[in-house]
Amino acid sequence: MKTRSDSGPVLDKGDVLLEARGLSKGFPGVWEHLILDQLDFDVRSGEVHTLLGENGAGKTVIANILSGYYEKTEGEIRVKGKLVHFRSPREGLAHGIAMVHQELMLVPAFTVAENIMVGLDAPLFSYGIAGVEKRIQRLVERYGLQVDPKARVEDLSAGQQQRVEILKVLFHEPEVLLLDEPTSLLTPSEADQLFVVLRAMADDGKGIVFISHKMREVFAVSDRVTVLKLGKTQGTCQIAETNEDELTRRTFGETVPDYMERPEVAHEELALNTIEMVPSGLEKKPNSQGISLKIRCGEIMGLAGVSGNGQTELIEAVTGLVPPASGEVWILNADMTGRTPKEFIERGVAHIPERRREIGIVEQMHVAENVVLKDYRKTPFSKNTVLRHQQISSHAEKIVEKFNALVPDLWQTECRILSGGNIQRLILGRETWRKPPVIIASHPTEGLDAKAIRHTWELFLALRAEGSAVLLVSEDLDEIMSLSDRIAVMFEGKIMGIVDGKGADREILGHWMAGGTASAA
Ligand SMILES: Nc1ncnc2c1ncn2[C@@H]1O[C@H](COP(=O)(O)OP(=O)(O)OP(=O)(O)O)[C@@H](O)[C@H]1O
Ligand SMILES: [Mg+2]
Repeated sequence: MKTRSDSGPVLDKGDVLLEARGLSKGFPGVWEHLILDQLDFDVRSGEVHTLLGENGAGKTVIANILSGYYEKTEGEIRVKGKLVHFRSPREGLAHGIAMVHQELMLVPAFTVAENIMVGLDAPLFSYGIAGVEKRIQRLVERYGLQVDPKARVEDLSAGQQQRVEILKVLFHEPEVLLLDEPTSLLTPSEADQLFVVLRAMADDGKGIVFISHKMREVFAVSDRVTVLKLGKTQGTCQIAETNEDELTRRTFGETVPDYMERPEVAHEELALNTIEMVPSGLEKKPNSQGISLKIRCGEIMGLAGVSGNGQTELIEAVTGLVPPASGEVWILNADMTGRTPKEFIERGVAHIPERRREIGIVEQMHVAENVVLKDYRKTPFSKNTVLRHQQISSHAEKIVEKFNALVPDLWQTECRILSGGNIQRLILGRETWRKPPVIIASHPTEGLDAKAIRHTWELFLALRAEGSAVLLVSEDLDEIMSLSDRIAVMFEGKIMGIVDGKGADREILGHWMAGGTASAA
């Protein structure tokens, strides 16, 4: 295995900007082992250095320590050779180190500019709101990250909010920028745009730390890659001297196969049926049309589209979260229009939501409680309104085991301390264990590592074989095309077309996603 010292001649790209030696981090009382164990890592001027590793490997923790959000347990951190000890992100920023977080951390009721102002120190604050807006506009133009500084954050799509998070950090003109899965909510072309920005910044002499699970991105943007496994480095190498298989093997100890068995499943019964349904919020769109979407039992329907084109509203309507403005929603031959979310759950509608930390779990609740969040009133988890801890424990244990989630203790661990991918595993477990007849899955593999993505795909195919219907909402065409029996494309609140998943033409899908009306041959 390669280590730093035998990684071959190091490109002379520039000076070391940020350097960690022998970095360790423990959470005593929570984890018995160290979360980071004697780690060496550095970022140089002019490079993009990627951190790769399975869910829970410690990527976010490193970034949090290097930017001042977490304190290290042991080791040395230097900025341009000078020993530093950050006690807060503000101190990190003062040294030119800034981080874009894995989860969105914006204030929804504030505008873009107000959100950016919130974190400013007095000298920058003195710009005033108009000055801040002007400066954002300049950054928007310089880096091509389209956002209106005056827009209210709650009106923006998730992808747009992610751009705001990036702008918020660029505002400080950092020398080292740490980006923790910054593309999870971006479309591939938005991600490519971001890479142009990152390259431009690196060419300006800045150092970039990039975290992603997506190999396409790792190869598109990195100069060097460091692989982490349970807090230990598996070596650093030049991207040009490695390949996807080798990195996957270093990450997981094995390669992850592409091919998946997909037996034909034929059911006639409709699982989800919307009739001329206009989701609430879309009725005001100029060309809004009723959506008639029919998904049979045992069918996976992919819903492709750039986020912000009505997918969220459609999901709210078919899970009962918000009643539709007009039209009907049927689940398994029952008219559910206007019913409550609880009634949808009882009818067998599972929901894997986007924004998992806000909607998917209750962060302050323990793992066991989160796993039965939707079932705790039912047998076997309660009897005569009394919770049965033993049953809940053994159920939660099964889910943790089946989904390989890293959880120190079912009743002691609050979900907020789990890594992003591990939270997603628990949500997948909670929503699918009853083999629900209808699964509404929004970006179900967001934040998962390659092996967990593979497991999730297999799980969906197994549920499909048993008769579950899945509405798979994703911007990731690879995922949609790998799993879907049929693919619908949504644009500005309308379904632009529906095609068979087998042999679907990526160009036609892309065309519809951009609002084109070309017909599939
Ligand atoms: N505040 C905390 N208290 C206790 N444990 C924590 C805390 N923050 C992180 N951890 C643990 O540290 C480990 C590494 O987490 P980290 O978030 O760095 O993983 P990651 O590599 O970013 O994974 P993912 O790909 O899922 O985002 C996890 O097991 C996590 O539960
Ligand atoms: Mg992480």
